Amino acid sequence: MMRQAGRFLPEYRALREKHDFLAVSRTPELTAEVTLQPVRKLGVDAAILFADIMTPVVGLGLPLEFAPGPVIETPVRTDADLDALTPFSAEESVPFVMEGIRLIRAELPESVPLIGFAGGPWTVAAYLTEGRSSPSFAQLRRMLYEAPATLTRLLDILTEMTCAYVEAQVDAGAQAVQLFESWAGLLDAPRYQAVALPGVRKILKHVRGLGVPAIFYVGGGSHLYEAIADCGADVVSVDWRTPIREARARLGSGFAMQGNLDPAVLLGDRETIAREAKRVLRDAGPEPGHVFNLGHGILPSTPWENAKFLVETVHELSERGA
Ligand code: CP3
Repeated sequence: MMRQAGRFLPEYRALREKHDFLAVSRTPELTAEVTLQPVRKLGVDAAILFADIMTPVVGLGLPLEFAPGPVIETPVRTDADLDALTPFSAEESVPFVMEGIRLIRAELPESVPLIGFAGGPWTVAAYLTEGRSSPSFAQLRRMLYEAPATLTRLLDILTEMTCAYVEAQVDAGAQAVQLFESWAGLLDAPRYQAVALPGVRKILKHVRGLGVPAIFYVGGGSHLYEAIADCGADVVSVDWRTPIREARARLGSGFAMQGNLDPAVLLGDRETIAREAKRVLRDAGPEPGHVFNLGHGILPSTPWENAKFLVETVHELSERGA
């Protein structure tokens, strides 16, 4: 359960009253603490590093704030903006991420893997060009048509940054890497394939070369499954808009699937949660693997008891082979 994985927990809120988001993500002890909170409280099977897809961009020389989403004071839109970026070095720019990973690994039980992550270049570019969250990301989409060469240059820089960033995470102890393409759905299939996918393929190949599984999350991408069939991931993580069975059939063989419960189900009662969890498990079937997850980040208003109930229910149903 990603992104707001901690935010619905009372422990996380208490800690956030004392420290802002950036302080938590830049202080390895606090990073480790909030990464471990959902593992202890909910009994999930894996931990997800506490960081953000925008965390590494400070290494390009871009000041970053959260309010509560990412804010870049100096958006990147022109070739001159690209010329001004500084070369990225994970250990020099964001050493606290790797230090956090080392602390987490030291504290996590052997049986609980730690998932590192990064944003897809297209998704990170959406925030970098707009400067903040947006329903339309008009700046990025303007570049697509008005300044395609500049956009390609930006995506190449982000691809290179991300390869170095995920490599540093794996070297520090991350045991799988998830690439979040939350804004895949801004593009139609031919443009996704031509513009965004090359960088994704490079990063996922790099991750697999490091000897850990690569998970590719495609947000709003129900129209893209055929287009991403050669993405090179081990696992494709899908939102809740398409049944896993359909996503799997359209992707072709060779992928495990991750997902795809609608996060809003967790705002319902227990009967509903159990019914919907069962539906997802049945739909996913036994072959060739399924990592149960939400189709997107957990909603901050989710009662934590419901999240715990979901974890217990999925464990119970999986053990029974239901
Ligand atoms: O679940 C976790 O806690 C793991 C860490 C994590 C965060 N961000 C911490 C965070 C992960 C995996 C992310 C990924 C992320 N960040 C994505 C990709 C996944 C997705 O959800 O699509 C994206 C698009 C972002 C960008 C981002 N960061 C936004 C839009 C926001 C605003 C959040 C909101 O919904 O209001 C953030 C802030 C953020 N990142 C929070 C957390 C825990 C909330 C900050 C807070 O504590 O106030």
